[in-house]
Amino acid sequence: IASLIIAVDGPAASGKGTIAARLAQTYGLPHLDTGLLYRAVGVGVLDAGGSLDDAAFAETVALKLDASHLTDTDRLTSGEAGEAASRIAGYPGVRAALLAFQKAFAAQAGGAVLDGRDIGTVIAPEAPAKLFITATPEVRATRRWKQLTARGQDIAFEAMLADIVKRDERDAGRGAAPMVQAEDAVLLDTTDMGIEAAFDAARRIVEAAR
Ligand code: C5P
Repeated sequence: IASLIIAVDGPAASGKGTIAARLAQTYGLPHLDTGLLYRAVGVGVLDAGGSLDDAAFAETVALKLDASHLTDTDRLTSGEAGEAASRIAGYPGVRAALLAFQKAFAAQAGGAVLDGRDIGTVIAPEAPAKLFITATPEVRATRRWKQLTARGQDIAFEAMLADIVKRDERDAGRGAAPMVQAEDAVLLDTTDMGIEAAFDAARRIVEAAR
């Protein structure tokens, strides 16, 4: 087919990133992890000595961000970066500054896979294939804890779980582009699935939608 946009949304550590990357590989599409944009802005604010409470400053950082050169470094994938990201992601000015890059990425010839919180609702509402991937907070915290521990980061499981629950509430409760399942998105609960089963389910959803 000519063009395929796949929108993958869901909470932290739901498996959406891994699934999005594998869908991109399967269909030969470019993949954008939009969480990295917000993480880079959060880290940019911290590195500049700014406050995460300062919406105008975060917007300045977002406007200056070179989004085309982001890779998932240990710094950007850290819990600190995730927390900073979710703090600045609620500012409408920050979201507006990152909008054009994401929309252009989604609109490129041939299509693309994007994962985040508002892909199916705001960035690419026209996407034919939309998934909302979730799992219980306990299962997501366990996954993220294993991931970070394997990378040598030292974090307690209870702190991880509290972090995830707090981030869900902030992302779902904000006024600007809150995390919500698009009306036409298919819900995929990966709580009792390994990555292979989750990916197979995701691929079937895309096949049915394209
Ligand atoms: O997905 P990830 O955990 O990397 O996202 C980090 C934070 O960035 C999220 O908790 C959310 O606040 C924000 N985000 C967002 N919209 C997106 C992607 C991420 O608000 N499309």
